[in-house]
Amino acid sequence: MASSKALVLAAFGARGTGKTAWVKQQIAAIKPPRLMVWDFKHDPALASVGKPFTDLAAFIRALEKPTFQARYLVDHRVDFHAQFELFCLAAWEAGRVLMFVDELPEVTKANKAPPAWRRCVNIGRDYRLAGSKDPQWLSIIGAGQRTKECDKSFIGNADVLHTGRLSNVPDAKELAQSLGCDYRDLLTLPDLHWIERRAGQIEPTRGKLTFSAKKTTPAAAGKPRLRDDS
Ligand SMILES: Nc1ncnc2c1ncn2[C@@H]1O[C@H](COP(=O)(O)OP(=O)(O)O)[C@@H](O)[C@H]1O
Ligand SMILES: [Mg+2]
Repeated sequence: MASSKALVLAAFGARGTGKTAWVKQQIAAIKPPRLMVWDFKHDPALASVGKPFTDLAAFIRALEKPTFQARYLVDHRVDFHAQFELFCLAAWEAGRVLMFVDELPEVTKANKAPPAWRRCVNIGRDYRLAGSKDPQWLSIIGAGQRTKECDKSFIGNADVLHTGRLSNVPDAKELAQSLGCDYRDLLTLPDLHWIERRAGQIEPTRGKLTFSAKKTTPAAAGKPRLRDDS
């Protein structure tokens, strides 16, 4: 029986270090047939990533199609935690989707994550919807400036831990331990430089984002896949 593995990618770094640019490159390489994006800050850098929705109900209806690239522009006039809960519930119901949550620390804390998000992170690799035998899975990309403000199970579940420069010593120490590098390296990385560790790697890899070469991905480990089928 084929085993499958949905991927969890975590991207960190201070503002402007290249998180969103890196995530965009990952998405471009994965080419997910079903993509949903939580665009917290209405980031101009995400303008090319999926069809924008300002209406959450319309966004969720768009997920009923077999394929979609949908980006939800969070409504800051009303409680965005409630919107995030619905976003995560909709991801769960949709299944077989890549969900990208940008500015993750706005909606999670180290020891407190919304239940629907927790379920996506902790059980989303392989699950069944009630009354169905079809296997479902979620691939998840989360990005944020501060590791200390992200829920620990998300970081612990990451298949790819990727970071640019961090501006804060406790964050750098925590992530350096997971990456297997000196925390001072994380405090001094120039913009667009990164250190990452993929599941199964002992040593972290280092690199710099480039934007010119069309076919190259930034990751030394090659093209990321939405699922590993073996
Ligand atoms: N397509 C691109 N070409 C050249 N530079 C880019 C491109 N996309 C992003 N950048 C550079 O990457 C920097 C980091 O942007 P971004 O990934 O949005 O940062 P972050 O998400 O970490 O705040 C930007 O300041 C910009 O200089
Ligand atoms: Mg960003």
